[in-house]
Amino acid sequence: MNFGILIEEAYEAKKQSYAPYSGFHVGAALLALDGEIYRGCNIENAAYSPTNCAERTAFFKAVSEGKREFAAIAIVGDKREFLAPCGVCRQVMSEFCDAKQFKIILAGSKTEYEIYTLEELLPKSFSKDNL
Ligand code: THU
Repeated sequence: MNFGILIEEAYEAKKQSYAPYSGFHVGAALLALDGEIYRGCNIENAAYSPTNCAERTAFFKAVSEGKREFAAIAIVGDKREFLAPCGVCRQVMSEFCDAKQFKIILAGSKTEYEIYTLEELLPKSFSKDNL
């Protein structure tokens, strides 16, 4: 699959980033299995801990609209270096995504990116299977 469109969507999402405290702007674009794309940006807060990452914003938008199955997510920051999702976001991904199938695209530009499976970024994860 060509992830160019998904990366472009992540850059569009980043334009809405609300990051007055860190100045660190992040955008994400989540591709549902049905082809729908959900954008997310990071949303910071004066109390700091309520801050929501771009990836979780995209997931929560999609899940709150009834989506449960996802194919891939593209993530972009301000720099060209690849920005990996935090541990909390990886855990949220693991709730809804197949670890071997779900692709995480870390992009430094529209044409420079790395692709990982969720299993590569979150091995031996805790899930509903452990309950
Ligand atoms: N952030 C994200 O949105 N995604 C990540 O993968 C890493 C961190 C945000 C949270 C916070 O607003 C800022 O980046 C600095 O940590």
